[in-house]
Amino acid sequence: MPKEYNIAVIPGDGTGPEVVAEGIKALERLSQKYSIKFRFTTYPLGGERYLKQGELLPDGIINELREADAIYLGAIGHPDVQPGILEREILLRLRFELDLYINLRPVTLFPGVDTPLKDKSPKDIDFVVVRENSEGLYTGSGGVFKKGTLDEVAIQESISTRKGVERCIRYAFEYCRNRNKNKHLTLCGKTNVLTYESDLWQRVFQEIHKEYKDVTTNYQHVDAICMWMVKNPEQFDVIVTNNIFGDIISDLGAMIQGGLGIAAGGNINPHGIAMFEPIGGSAPKYAGLNSINPLAAISAAQMMLDYLGEEEAADALLSAIKKVVKNNLESLEAGRMGYSTKEVGDLVVDYL
Ligand code: IPM
Ligand code: MN
Repeated sequence: MPKEYNIAVIPGDGTGPEVVAEGIKALERLSQKYSIKFRFTTYPLGGERYLKQGELLPDGIINELREADAIYLGAIGHPDVQPGILEREILLRLRFELDLYINLRPVTLFPGVDTPLKDKSPKDIDFVVVRENSEGLYTGSGGVFKKGTLDEVAIQESISTRKGVERCIRYAFEYCRNRNKNKHLTLCGKTNVLTYESDLWQRVFQEIHKEYKDVTTNYQHVDAICMWMVKNPEQFDVIVTNNIFGDIISDLGAMIQGGLGIAAGGNINPHGIAMFEPIGGSAPKYAGLNSINPLAAISAAQMMLDYLGEEEAADALLSAIKKVVKNNLESLEAGRMGYSTKEVGDLVVDYL
C-alpha cells in the first residue's frame, strides 16, 4: 500500500497559485515513481478572499488544517490590503495557532547559480538558519498611547520565554547533529544590548550544549553575523536565533544563495504539523504573467517531502532542481530565466 498524505494547499495571493501549481506537478510526478500518494485540499485564503468576503482565516479552516499532514503555502500579501492585516491575521496566526515554533531556512548555493559574493562557490555557502517562530517581537505585545499627538508613545515588546527559547535551541542542536556537516552551531543574538533577552538565550544555549558535546558552538552578535555571512559564509553550519533576527538574516541568506527565486522555508512544529513556503512573497508585479521562478516553491515541496520522511523522493526532487538550475536556466530571476514558470516546472518533471 502506498503511503498517503493529506496536503492542505494555500495557493494565496499574487504569484502564489502559479508557483504552487508547479510544486504540485512535481509531487504528482513523484507519486507515480515512488510509493506515495498525495491528497490535496485547497484553501482559498488571502487578500482576494478578504477583499471579497471580509474573511481572513475562519476557525473552521484552522481546525481542518490541524488534521492535515502538512501545509503547502504559496504566498500571502495583496497590494490593495493595508500592510499588516493579512500578515498578522493569516500567516502569523497560522504560525501561532498551530504552534509552528521553528522556522527553518536553508541557505544553499547550487552549482551554476550566481551569488553576489565574489569568489564564493557552493562549497562555501551551505548552512541553515533555525529561527524561533512563535515569540520575540512577533507576539504583538505592546501598545500606543496618545496616538497621533506629539506626546505619542509606542511600545513594541519582545517576549522570550524560557520554554520557547529552550525548545528552539534544543531543536537546533538536534538538527545540527543530524545534519552532520561540521556539527557546528552558532548562536546569534545581541548580548551587548539586549541584556535580558539575549542573556536568557545564551544561558539556555550553554546549558543545552552540555547534552550535545559532539556539537561545537560559538556566539555572534546579529550585526557581526551579517558581515560574516558576506565575508566568510563558509564558517557556518547551523545558526540559531530569535524571531526578528532570524527574519532579517534569512533574507540576507536568500540573496547570497541566488535570490528569492530559489529560497524556501519551513514553519515547523516538530511534534505536530508543518507549513512549507517559498519565501519570496506574492510578487504582485509578476502575477499571472507565467514568468515567476517556481523553483523556490518546488524547493519548499522538497523540504516538505523531507519532513514527511520521504527521503528518496526528496533527494530525487533536489537533484532535479539542481539539474534545471545548472543545465537550463539563464538566470533565477523572474522574466529572465529563458523559460516560463510552467516550462521550468516541466523541466523539473522531465528530470524526474
Ligand atoms: C517571513 C516574512 C514574514 C515575517 C512577514 C510577511 C510577516 O517576512 O516569513 O519571513 O516577518 O516573518
Ligand atoms: Mn521575512
